[in-house]
Amino acid sequence: MATSFSPKILTNIFLVLVVTAAMYAAKATELKETKLSFYMHDISAFGDPKATTIPVAGIAGKAWTFTQFGTVYVVDDNITKTPDPKSPKVAQFQGLYVTAALDGLRYFATASIVFTNKEYNGSTIQIQGTDKYPATEVAVVGGTGEFRFARGYATSKIYFWDVVTQHSVVQLNVTTVEHEFRF
Ligand SMILES: *[C@@H]1O[C@H](CO)[C@@H](O)[C@H](O)[C@H]1NC(C)=O
Ligand SMILES: *[C@@H]1O[C@H](CO)[C@@H](O)[C@H](O)[C@H]1NC(C)=O
Ligand SMILES: *[C@@H]1O[C@H](CO)[C@@H](O)[C@H](O)[C@H]1NC(C)=O
Repeated sequence: MATSFSPKILTNIFLVLVVTAAMYAAKATELKETKLSFYMHDISAFGDPKATTIPVAGIAGKAWTFTQFGTVYVVDDNITKTPDPKSPKVAQFQGLYVTAALDGLRYFATASIVFTNKEYNGSTIQIQGTDKYPATEVAVVGGTGEFRFARGYATSKIYFWDVVTQHSVVQLNVTTVEHEFRF
């Protein structure tokens, strides 16, 4: 059967389809940027009952320290809004540090920022990366809840450090982009 559509009409129909598909795709993948800044409270003194970063494994016969290859730490730091540990709680930083460089100069971190504040309660941001101690930049590799499909990066720097008690306050900035699905 001979078609009655001229090539020009077919081209127009095709263009309309392409534009419509592109509009749907653009809506489905609208990106939202979120910038967060808060403070982690870390106690790493060995044997301190209040310690929040604790070595749980290491190479037999070697000291389990940040600069010894093979040391594995479990961490659960409070994250608060300001450097004051009594300021409103935002989240917990829960995960692992592994000294993953033979020369002990770099470590690998994998952790969840588990939100407990009103705005993001129950959502998480997953961070992962290898860096010098203290970390300067690691990747945001995903998230849950408000942060589904998140990508981004997190930077940190020491705000306060008491060498004797091994208490430290670390500023943590997290920048993420999430897809916003709107059909
Ligand atoms: C973490 O927060 C809890 C309660 O919000 C508090 O009881 C605890 O002392 C805090 N831990 C540290 C190490 O600041
Ligand atoms: C967060 O959610 C938990 C359980 O779903 C609830 O008990 C808690 O009160 C909530 N916290 C805030 C700050 O809304
Ligand atoms: C976090 O962001 C603030 C505000 O932009 C900036 O002053 C601070 O240097 C940043 N800190 C880190 C560790 O990236």
